Amino acid sequence: MVSLKSLHTFGLDVSARSILELREPEDFRRFLSLEEPKILLGSGSDVLFTGDFAGTVGLVRSQGLEITEDPKAWHVHAAAGENWHETVLRLEKQGIPGLENLALIPGTCGAAPVQNIGAYGCELADFCEYVEICGAGGGIRRIPRDSCGFGYRTSNFKTKWAGSLIITGIGLKLPRRWVPRLDYGPLRELKGRQDLTSRMILEEVVSVRRSKIPDPTVLGNAGSFFQNPCVPAALHDELLRRHPGMPAYPQKDGSFKLAAGWLIEHAGLSGRTLGGAQIYPRQALILVNTGSATPGDVVALAREVIHQVFDTFGVRLVPEVRILGTDGEIPATDL
Ligand code: EPU
Repeated sequence: MVSLKSLHTFGLDVSARSILELREPEDFRRFLSLEEPKILLGSGSDVLFTGDFAGTVGLVRSQGLEITEDPKAWHVHAAAGENWHETVLRLEKQGIPGLENLALIPGTCGAAPVQNIGAYGCELADFCEYVEICGAGGGIRRIPRDSCGFGYRTSNFKTKWAGSLIITGIGLKLPRRWVPRLDYGPLRELKGRQDLTSRMILEEVVSVRRSKIPDPTVLGNAGSFFQNPCVPAALHDELLRRHPGMPAYPQKDGSFKLAAGWLIEHAGLSGRTLGGAQIYPRQALILVNTGSATPGDVVALAREVIHQVFDTFGVRLVPEVRILGTDGEIPATDL
């Protein structure tokens, strides 16, 4: 067995039967043809292992960044193994703005489309031109953005195509005409500034994230543990009557997105500790490993959150992290 402790950001003491580093198209093909339980990890920043893994873990390690330009935009192809934040920084340093709101999101470029990473009013889908994949037959091809099924923290890669292909790279299109996105809470303060640069936004995003989200090298975690839930207008109206200060964001379909962190905090769970697992006091949406957490501690704490939030508000939270069982992924709704 091989330890996975340093290969995922929760830092749990779990292992796998074997690991395989994937760099070249040939490695991807070989991995796809393995007839045993298998899962892929980029930097392991959005997963919860519920125990040891009885199969092979493929580690995506391909590297490379290519930039081309036309009069309207820069086109960037990033290999799946490239670190996302490093890529945002490299582009910014080369004078290519656009991704600043998505700075400091942990993980690799190849993982970014799976849950359509997002923060501060932007998401990957806003800039994605295509996703390059290696399919079951071993062929490499590009899937255009509109066929990827992007939605709030989801895509076809997370749902109907899960396990059947490997993302080998992503294509980004960054318009030369830079449009700052400042509608989200802490960035509003920058509105109206004459000297505004993408660097300033990037620095603000990095500092807000650092103040709220614990550094996984210090305190194991996988970022937001739960998705923000969408509820029907009737339930939203009733909850708002009972809790006038509750944050809620109207959606196009008439439903309302609620803040899971707020629900958890107001169910009285901030700072709650179970074994070595804890609900992070400064941001209740994040579960942390205080050092000695077992997978069982994290699962039990997550279940307690789901039950208590449901009892208090009648809203069922669904994990945002990928839940991994002994022989593969477990649907998040089944935790
Ligand atoms: N809130 C509380 N208590 C808490 C946490 C949040 O009352 O403990 C309230 C906040 O005051 C705010 C609202 O909930 O009114 C929303 O909180 P915040 O702006 O911090 O964002 P979030 O909904 O908690 C989402 C993403 C984050 C992303 C931030 C910023 C999800 C599941 N999470 O968090 O993404 O960084 O917005 O855009 O959508 C991640 O995916 O790992 C992640 C960190």
